[in-house]
Amino acid sequence: MPDTLKTMEPMHAMIRSGEPVLLCDSGDLADGGAGVPFEVVYLTESCHAFAVRYQGTVYAYLNRCTHVPMELDYQPNQFFDLTGHWLICATHGALYAPQTGQCRLGPCRGGLVKIEVSEADGQVHWHTSDKLQPEKPL
Ligand code: FES
Repeated sequence: MPDTLKTMEPMHAMIRSGEPVLLCDSGDLADGGAGVPFEVVYLTESCHAFAVRYQGTVYAYLNRCTHVPMELDYQPNQFFDLTGHWLICATHGALYAPQTGQCRLGPCRGGLVKIEVSEADGQVHWHTSDKLQPEKPL
């Protein structure tokens, strides 16, 4: 096998899309409050991600601004702006809609990478996809 193909092999077997991975307890996410960080492998790269609760629903995204690939939070796990209605990148102030991750204002381009989540029985899970895998085998 050519070396270029070998380097593309995943660290461990791909987990099929839609598998739940425990993220946190429901009580860890206050509405409009601090986010909960977690780790994922996006494509082949280890990345920080975060979950927040907005108007009762949990949303999760890669912690990567679309302006410059920097993490959004300057103060750890603080993702909402002062209004509590927008996710803000602390570096240059880009605003994203918490429900969709789409850019609302500022230098962002497009939207945050959304991660599917579910909440049941007091627990929040994120879900794998062909681009998002857990850091460790399940
Ligand atoms: S790096 Fe996020 S707005 Fe510039």
